[in-house]
Amino acid sequence: MGFRGGSNGPDKELRMATDEAFWDKIADKYAADSAKPKAKGPNYAARLERASAVFSPSDAVLDVGCASGEITMDLAAHCGRIHGIDVGGRLIEIARAEAKRRGIGNVTFEKISADDPARDVPEGGFDAVTMYSVIHLVPEPAAFMRRLGELVRPGGYLISETPCLGDRSSIWRPVIGVVRWLGKAPSIVHCLKAAEVEAMVADAGFEVLDSQIYNPKSGQQSVIARRV
Ligand SMILES: C[S@@+](CC[C@H](N)C(=O)[O-])C[C@H]1O[C@@H](n2cnc3c(N)ncnc32)[C@H](O)[C@@H]1O
Repeated sequence: MGFRGGSNGPDKELRMATDEAFWDKIADKYAADSAKPKAKGPNYAARLERASAVFSPSDAVLDVGCASGEITMDLAAHCGRIHGIDVGGRLIEIARAEAKRRGIGNVTFEKISADDPARDVPEGGFDAVTMYSVIHLVPEPAAFMRRLGELVRPGGYLISETPCLGDRSSIWRPVIGVVRWLGKAPSIVHCLKAAEVEAMVADAGFEVLDSQIYNPKSGQQSVIARRV
């Protein structure tokens, strides 16, 4: 299974290599931290229930930016099969090993970007796409979201959670600059606003059914949308 679409060229290849190096470097610690319940944020069980309520037991789901697969594996209990993808090779290795260890048979993982032009997947190939804390990290969020729209069948769903730092204090921009300079943040972190994410989701061909800020401290937004 693979993906096509999106822009190509040396700049993109260089950025992807840099991002992969960043995620590889922190992969083992990230995976260990993500396995702790508090890493998933407040009301996780309720958020998971609300998201998975749109799944049917036979649904094919794509989890974009799955990292070490903690959320992917939790979602697996509510759908037919789920495919987690991530640009971090070490994260994918960890996710595969952990799914095997837990005996979760309906989850697969692949090291690939959702907008990788070199791969191929049928348009409308998924019943749902999930994306947790990813869209603020890609170079062109609106184009990325449109690509996700192409992957979901009409009537299928998008579930997206995003830290909307653009709605928080303006102190975040310089703070992120420093954290990136220290090598502790990826090359791109957009300070998005919740309304901007909703507009992108709509522009990608979805009807927003529900949009909530579930963590006012971080501005973490949760969106559920249906492909028109
Ligand atoms: C903040 S982590 C979130 C991980 C996980 N979804 C969670 O909530 O625990 C962001 C993840 O997105 C991945 N990522 C960034 N750009 C990506 C892309 N273009 N395609 C796939 N994954 C990407 C990163 O490698 C990283 O693992």
